[in-house]
Amino acid sequence: MSSHATPIPMTSAACGPLSGVAQVPGDKSISHRSLILGAMCVGKTTISGLLEGDDVLDTARAMRAFGAEVTDLGDGNWSVHGVGVGGFAEPDGVIDCGNSGTGVRLIMGAMATSPITATFTGDASLNGRPMARVTDPLALFGTQSVGRKGGRLPMTIVGAADPVPVRYVVPVPSAQVKSAVLLAGLNAPGQTVVIEAEATRDHTERMLAGFGAKITVKDTDEGRIITLTGQPELQAQHVDVPRDPSSAAFPVCAALIVPGSDVLVPGIGLNPTRAGLFTTLREMGADLTYENERTEGGEPVADLRARFSPDMKGIEVPPARAASMIDEYPVLSVVASFAQGQTMMRGVKELRVKESDRIDAMAKGLRANGVEVDEGPDWWAVTGLGHGNVPGGATCASQLDHRIAMSFMIMGMAANAPVSVDDGAPITTSFPIFEPLMAQLGAKVTRGAL
Ligand code: S3P
Repeated sequence: MSSHATPIPMTSAACGPLSGVAQVPGDKSISHRSLILGAMCVGKTTISGLLEGDDVLDTARAMRAFGAEVTDLGDGNWSVHGVGVGGFAEPDGVIDCGNSGTGVRLIMGAMATSPITATFTGDASLNGRPMARVTDPLALFGTQSVGRKGGRLPMTIVGAADPVPVRYVVPVPSAQVKSAVLLAGLNAPGQTVVIEAEATRDHTERMLAGFGAKITVKDTDEGRIITLTGQPELQAQHVDVPRDPSSAAFPVCAALIVPGSDVLVPGIGLNPTRAGLFTTLREMGADLTYENERTEGGEPVADLRARFSPDMKGIEVPPARAASMIDEYPVLSVVASFAQGQTMMRGVKELRVKESDRIDAMAKGLRANGVEVDEGPDWWAVTGLGHGNVPGGATCASQLDHRIAMSFMIMGMAANAPVSVDDGAPITTSFPIFEPLMAQLGAKVTRGAL
């Protein structure tokens, strides 16, 4: 569990060209969902390529606590003997979801329509994040919740004994909220309808269909209307987890800013609800190509090839693209520092309620490293200095946020002086092989302060 990790200062210094093949780990979103949906089937679900990061391991432990038999078979292969929709047992102890907003919100949804009670907690980051966005719609099913002030964890959820189906318009662009409602809808009779104005990652919808639920999605003027028929018998499956585009972002962005680099990142999902960063980088003039484009498990996949791109330009990132790259703004802001001119990022209020306030965390660290950043409640802008002109030399607070820590490590690879983070320990939540993988490409990331 990430909750009690000792801080690990890390430093990244300028390196020679990055080259080689970066095999990034499995997709975090799909890994959580395969364990949770596997636990909601009767029978044996097998998973290959599971992300064995702390966040997902916390979800595996949670599924055991709710009665599923979850087994690590080695090499990213796992099996889940599920208990069926509505079959969750009441956990004996508190469910600790560590650093994971996805884990806690999806699990709350999955247990919310069973007649059981569970108490959830997490680390200091997770215990500061808003949960009312999930408990408000769950209350419509008949679920009760008691948490700390402002709807924060630790929180106890009392599942609805006689759930009713709901119709819910998601008020913020959030796949976690959408997914929590859909998972709760699984054990409610009749049809649960979720409407989202902006499309967010659609893994839950795709996977529910794959596990045999009756689910339809209609694109309308009102938004995406998702209709799920409750109380299905989910069919145990094999899930082959694709590699995570959000993790691929780090070696890709590193290659774009480190002189002479040429890195191949194979097998990355280009689901349009996840691939916004790559489109943005290409618009900035990045030498980023999609090779060997194919379809795997119904999802578009390609090998990404990123080469050093000294002439990138700042752009205005369309707000409509925000949901499809919401986790990638921190590392985009690093690339933007090395581009010419301003990169403007609007419509990104959600960045303020992630593992950290990501606008605040990145703005502070970028400024400390000599980069100008302007910000407002739902926007920020980075003034790029151009290749070779980013000073670096500062230690940044990672604020218990894996993506902040990794972003500053990428910055150090091309800045004029090394860049440190006070704590790289959170990196293991999503990218446990970050250090060896970057080292194998030629990066100089070491443990210890500046
Ligand atoms: C996720 C959804 C996003 C994302 C998170 C993973 C998911 O959060 O930031 O890392 O797997 O559903 P929101 O739904 O809060 O935007």
